[in-house]
Amino acid sequence: MNKIKLILDVDPGIDDSLALLLAGLSAEIELLAVTVVSGNIEVNQAACNAKLAMSLINRNDVLIAKGCALPLQRNYVDATDTHGKDGIGEIYFPSEEPIDHGSATEVIIGLLRQYPHQITIAALGPLSNLATIIKQDAEVCALAKEIIIMGGSVKVCGNCSPVAEYNFWCDPDAAKIFFDAHLANVTLVPLDVTYKIRLTPDMREMIRQFKSPLSQYVVDITGFYVDFHWAQERTLGCVINDPLVIAYLLDRSILTFKKGYVQIETEGIAMGESVVEFRETDSQKLTDIAQSVDSKKFFKLFLKRLFHEHKEDIQLMIEKRMIL
Ligand code: BDR
Ligand code: CA
Repeated sequence: MNKIKLILDVDPGIDDSLALLLAGLSAEIELLAVTVVSGNIEVNQAACNAKLAMSLINRNDVLIAKGCALPLQRNYVDATDTHGKDGIGEIYFPSEEPIDHGSATEVIIGLLRQYPHQITIAALGPLSNLATIIKQDAEVCALAKEIIIMGGSVKVCGNCSPVAEYNFWCDPDAAKIFFDAHLANVTLVPLDVTYKIRLTPDMREMIRQFKSPLSQYVVDITGFYVDFHWAQERTLGCVINDPLVIAYLLDRSILTFKKGYVQIETEGIAMGESVVEFRETDSQKLTDIAQSVDSKKFFKLFLKRLFHEHKEDIQLMIEKRMIL
């Protein structure tokens, strides 16, 4: 089997942590590195959170490298209101200093040169690390096989302003540098589809019943997120954006796409907005933008991968229509 060579650029983050678990537990993926960026929480704590997720699934072999501590130009605003003061729902696991294998940007550049046109980069946080690389050496990102971004809101409201989604809003200048580079094979997975990925109270209760350290961790880290969703928008359960990108890597039929030309606003009330022109004809500048998602397919895959020893229980819950 030809494995998917993956670099995961993340800001864990509750949903980033779930994405790390899904990638780390999927045999089809060769996780070359987890690179970390300040976003939901500052980069040092985010790296600790990445290490915790990987150690829970016995993946201490995966290289973790810290990247940008601040957005390129803007003042840094974290998302601890959404993710908790520790970035993972205020469960306060002891924070050890993670093993740091050099700077994230150097790790990414090194791997892209080592495996030209073979690597998929999944960027699930602000684009500060990737923009820094583009600024240093515009050619090197073109060595990626594909780059998949979770970010932006195209036809739906943003989650930081009426028009801006957090990853682009946190570092709009980085997002602009990234999309203005017009790299080939860029895929955008915006809020339009990720907001349909809702971990429901029933699914969470099923996970709690599995009573393993991993299931307890998933229940613990999502508790804060559930409360946030209730307080913010009267939603039951919580939206888990980031693992959708990983699920799409494993099953390309989960998302459908349309090509569009993406531009990022960096100033004023629309700061961080992803403005998409679907009529653009210059094919070299187009990005694949996710339009629809099969959320049932996502959850079947996600739950069975994380809790593979409970596959039968999950299938039974699906057949009984208890969870999906
Ligand atoms: C994105 O922002 C973060 O809060 C999440 O981790 C996700 O990557 C959703 O807007
Ligand atoms: Ca994220």
